[in-house]
Amino acid sequence: MSQSNVAIDSRQFRNALGAFATGVTIVTTQDAEGRDVGLTASSFNSVSLEPPMVLWSLTKTSGSLPAFMEGEYFAVHVLAADQQSMSDRFSKRGIDKFEGLALERGAGDIPLLGDCSARFQCRTSYRYEGGDHIIFVGEVIAFDHWAHPPLAFHGGKYAKVFPCAAAAVTEPEDVSSSFNKDYLGFLLGVASMQLAVPVRSAWQAMGLSECGYFVLSVLAAGKHRTLAQINQILSLGEHHFDDAEMDRLVTAGWITVEGEGVSRQFDLTAKGRELTVKLFVQAKSAEQKAIEGLDWDDLALLKGLLQKIIRNTRV
Ligand SMILES: Cc1cc2nc3c(=O)[nH]c(=O)nc-3n(C[C@H](O)[C@H](O)[C@H](O)COP(=O)(O)O)c2cc1C
Repeated sequence: MSQSNVAIDSRQFRNALGAFATGVTIVTTQDAEGRDVGLTASSFNSVSLEPPMVLWSLTKTSGSLPAFMEGEYFAVHVLAADQQSMSDRFSKRGIDKFEGLALERGAGDIPLLGDCSARFQCRTSYRYEGGDHIIFVGEVIAFDHWAHPPLAFHGGKYAKVFPCAAAAVTEPEDVSSSFNKDYLGFLLGVASMQLAVPVRSAWQAMGLSECGYFVLSVLAAGKHRTLAQINQILSLGEHHFDDAEMDRLVTAGWITVEGEGVSRQFDLTAKGRELTVKLFVQAKSAEQKAIEGLDWDDLALLKGLLQKIIRNTRV
């Protein structure tokens, strides 16, 4: 969609600007009375390396404007991926944004926040009018940089940064091995098999078959299941159970059966439930190990993507 500059719709303009992905910063200073002042700003940018200079812009309606107009120093904190709540806090008006925060002090006694990805202390060099904003250009007099992944902002939403896969492969790879490394089915298969190993050892040691393990898991999640319902729930895999297999589980004392024919309903016995709980504990501890190094956002993304793949591959 194109818009001419004679009649620009401000919402659409804002949406178009949102296509530009940025980081998120908190800019702080101190007002003339010595009160700490700060706000969330994504308008931060680098300007010059020599001398080192940065800029950001502040809306003229901001309550923080007088402090930044008068203050000689400001600090820009590039937020880390886990600092979304800090961004939310500093984008609110009329609250004590600094309450309870552990602060350091920088040039001119300005408040400095911690746990961010980078922090720049600046002396204000220029202030420019820019429409409904004031543009602040500052010379960097000190900075810190930590290896925390940054928080991103895109299309009006917080985001995380995922590096693109490396483009260049320097040496031609053996076709079969590169197929394996890249093939989604291979990756999902290996991950799934490795995740299942500790649980498989556990159900084997308890004298259960793989089919039996699946049936017990389904019955642990819901009572009075018929064979058709069990097969429907497990239809993601190629495991389809027949009456003979269910009878084996009944004979072993893991499950009970009520009714006749296709309306037969199955439930866990106390022995079956006790066994299933033990297996779930094993499965949960295997899962914990598998997700080591992933944070909550990574996990939510991973699960969302896997759900899409499950939907797309449903037969
Ligand atoms: C992700 C994000 C980015 C923002 N970027 C800016 C910005 O660059 N400049 C600005 O003036 N306000 C920006 N804001 C809005 C201010 O943080 C918000 O108006 C805040 O309430 C101002 O506080 P104050 O009135 O106490 O100064 C942003 C808000 C968010 C959530």
